[in-house]
Amino acid sequence: MSDSDDLFVREDPIFEQKELLEINHLPDEGRIVGRDEEMKNLANAVNPAIFGQSPSNVLIYGKTGTGKSLCAKHISRRLVDIAKEEQVTADFAYVDCAQDSTETQAVQTIASSLNQPDETGVKIPDKGIATATYYKRLWNILDSEYDVVIIILDEIDKLEDDDILMQLSRAGEAGKVSNCKIGVIGISNKIKYKEEQLNERVKSSLCEREFVFPPYDAPQLNEIMSARKDAFRDGVLSDGVIPRAAALAAREHGDARQAIDILRYAGEIAQSRGAPKVTEEFVIDARERAETDRFRELIRGSTPHSRYVLQALTVLSLNNDENDGYRTTRIFDIYKEICRQEGSNTLSLRRVRDLLKEHAFLDITKQTRHSGGSAEGSYTNHQLLEDPEVVRDVLADTIE
Ligand SMILES: Nc1ncnc2c1ncn2[C@@H]1O[C@H](COP(=O)(O)OP(=O)(O)OP(=O)(O)O)[C@@H](O)[C@H]1O
Ligand SMILES: [Mg+2]
Repeated sequence: MSDSDDLFVREDPIFEQKELLEINHLPDEGRIVGRDEEMKNLANAVNPAIFGQSPSNVLIYGKTGTGKSLCAKHISRRLVDIAKEEQVTADFAYVDCAQDSTETQAVQTIASSLNQPDETGVKIPDKGIATATYYKRLWNILDSEYDVVIIILDEIDKLEDDDILMQLSRAGEAGKVSNCKIGVIGISNKIKYKEEQLNERVKSSLCEREFVFPPYDAPQLNEIMSARKDAFRDGVLSDGVIPRAAALAAREHGDARQAIDILRYAGEIAQSRGAPKVTEEFVIDARERAETDRFRELIRGSTPHSRYVLQALTVLSLNNDENDGYRTTRIFDIYKEICRQEGSNTLSLRRVRDLLKEHAFLDITKQTRHSGGSAEGSYTNHQLLEDPEVVRDVLADTIE
């Protein structure tokens, strides 16, 4: 009997509350670090909802892991609580547009999350009714149940078109709803989202306020991780681990998700090696894992052409050895070849340039400007920040 008992460990030796480091964990208010200004701005924009007036529509931009989704949800939740104290009935709906990318899916999600079937008697089936019917039911729910609602459209750039934005932003003036006020919080990490994907009407109504969330610096990441120390058992986490992880993560992207991942992986590595403590030496491997995860997620979320452009730069990087990167036009030539092989139309050079800018914004690549001397104008070079072989493998994995 004792033999088989030895096969199992009865308690996790490293983690006490591992959920604090899981991706979907929502820290409580006291644990949201370094976003005071951003939260104040957001609160300010939606504040009129508390006295039953129209909240401003907001667009939030920022790199991955800068707390956009977290702060939007947090502010919406707080707003609903305070509105309640003021006898204003408010609620919010959260839509992940990467999941619900069609107009029908998005309106279905909003309607079902705001519906209270016992009170409204309205049914919102998962599918099988026309988009227009979902809207009709949504407007009914809004007018019969709420004074105000906030609709968070996260990863808004993943919506197939802006029809739903048109509907939501015009619901009041078009007479679709008469009692309920609607506020939209759109979130994106595409800098060019507004210019490229929105028509003028939607643009002016959706973007009443715009906020950019900056990356976190090392002290902020340090604090974000320290607030989750309880994930570990007492005495297991060596003192140097968090500062080291914070320094690495800040130097790279200032991404809180990556910082938290590093901490979780460091614990898992200690666990798998049977080490009694999580020490600094595990941070290096943990960082590498977190970096590949981050990169994989970014690629997974990108469009085919955005991947073709990256693939073109990867082909160049694998076959050449140039230290200062590759010019846009060279990347464009290979990109066209890839499109031909894929049986796809090519985008214009200007669009490809924009896609390269997006990659640079998300720290997948680095851009440098060069002045070409008197004979030629200035030009931009692009370099992968990841090992080209890793990029090639990730691209191969993510292409369906
Ligand atoms: N200020 C903060 N304090 C505590 N935890 C934070 C903070 N900012 C982000 N986090 C944590 O980091 C992770 C990433 O944050 P969040 O999902 O809000 O990023 P995001 O800006 O929406 O990124 P993406 O563009 O990739 O969606 C989450 O687990 C979140 O709980
Ligand atoms: Mg997010």
